[in-house]
Amino acid sequence: MSSLISMAYLFAAVLFIQSLSGLSAHETAKRGNIYGMAGMAIAIIATIFSDSVVAYGWLFFAVIIGAAIGLVLAKRVEMTEMPQLVAMLHSFVGLAAVLIGWAGYIDPRMHLTGAEFVIHSTELYLGVFIGAITLSGSIVAFGKLHGIISGAPMLLPMRHWLNLGIIVLTLLLGFGFVSGEHAGADTFYLVVMTLIALFLGVHLVAAIGGADMPVVVSMLNSYSGWAASATGFMLGNDLLIITGALVGSSGAVLSYLMCKGMNRSFISVIMGGFGTDTGEVLHGGDEDHPDPIATSAEEVADDLAMADSVIITPGYGMAVAHAQMAVSELTENLRKKGKTVRFGIHPVAGRLPGHMNVLLAEASVPYDVVLEMDEINDDFPETDIVLVIGANDTVNPDAVEKPDCAIGGMPVLEVWKAKRVIVSKRSMASGYAGVANPLFIKENTRMLFGDAKDSVQEILKHIDD
Ligand code: TAP
Repeated sequence: MSSLISMAYLFAAVLFIQSLSGLSAHETAKRGNIYGMAGMAIAIIATIFSDSVVAYGWLFFAVIIGAAIGLVLAKRVEMTEMPQLVAMLHSFVGLAAVLIGWAGYIDPRMHLTGAEFVIHSTELYLGVFIGAITLSGSIVAFGKLHGIISGAPMLLPMRHWLNLGIIVLTLLLGFGFVSGEHAGADTFYLVVMTLIALFLGVHLVAAIGGADMPVVVSMLNSYSGWAASATGFMLGNDLLIITGALVGSSGAVLSYLMCKGMNRSFISVIMGGFGTDTGEVLHGGDEDHPDPIATSAEEVADDLAMADSVIITPGYGMAVAHAQMAVSELTENLRKKGKTVRFGIHPVAGRLPGHMNVLLAEASVPYDVVLEMDEINDDFPETDIVLVIGANDTVNPDAVEKPDCAIGGMPVLEVWKAKRVIVSKRSMASGYAGVANPLFIKENTRMLFGDAKDSVQEILKHIDD
């Protein structure tokens, strides 16, 4: 039986690798999801039949409750709330690692000695440490993304020294715990380390400002993978080790790619203190800050009728307004009229990696007209009209022109270089990073105020008049 289970685990691991590779491109993403679901189903069934499972009643109960919660959450969650859900799910992985670590410590059957004791204690200590950071860090990330906790960086005095002190203390406690020389004190070491790691998770994520939150979400994703891997070592479960390592390493690669997309170093993100929560707004009315020029759906329809080339740059507002279907309809309409319509997607547009791509795929926008920022950025000067649909930080010229502003140095879609820019949003409010956007008062910009879905539907009404 055990060799059958090992084979099932191996097969599940191969499916997980196939899943990750499928998820790396739009065309294969659905297939990737199916591989992932099949792998997980095989993994759960194989685990149920493994020798280590004895309490079937409890297991049945847990699977039913877990599946019911998962189903309700997945059905109810809005696309815009996905990052919060992901952060919450990461916290469960962290909690599982802490509980399994503690259970392994309390388990009276664990009478190990010598090298076995050292290895088991190290795995346990590391599992609880990473798990506790993931648990509390993910809860804070959830609070920040959900707007329950302020998005501004919360910085403790001398925080770098504090971090250093915590690391040194954790190492010292770890040596004490693993050496097992101080009989009776090991519970104390484990309790103190768990509390310190919980504090570290809160403190590390609280110090990170709004603009860096995307990286934090994927970093916590990576931590949750390593926590699962450490749990796999504790339980002697190969599949958990492999799956955890896959999640941990893919999360780390994604964090790196996102840092590159925002021109931030990984270390400076982890160090925190970046971003603002002031919500700056340009008021206009003077020479440096002229009033924005408003336009109407009718005027935009006329402008589009004259244009040959159009680029649409969607952002978080398109997701909030559920405007993707209307945007897709507009795209189809313009393409039928012989105009070149393409999309420019910023790597951190929206609130989670690939957010815009998923929405556009859902609305059946052809993949070949959806381009990444690097592929389209040089084409703006030759473009007649750019339609900015609910994007803000990702099209802010200050990122290029004002290196000292909060998003200074972040590569952006250089939409302002087009002949005409039409910005669809509800007000002059700033975006997620809280930085004012001078794009809205540029001479070639027209502001189409209102909900993005209503505005695009209104344009569609006028376009064939
Ligand atoms: P944002 O800078 O957040 O701007 C979105 C804009 O959408 C807002 O200024 C808002 O302006 C507008 N909006 C909201 N509801 C709308 C509606 N119903 N109709 C029309 N417009 C609406 O978006 P972005 O350009 O996509 O940039 C993403 C930001 O989020 C970056 O700062 C990024 O770092 C951060 N972030 C990204 C991620 C990932 S991984 N992608 C995760 C977390 C955070 P009004 O209120 O005036 O309408």
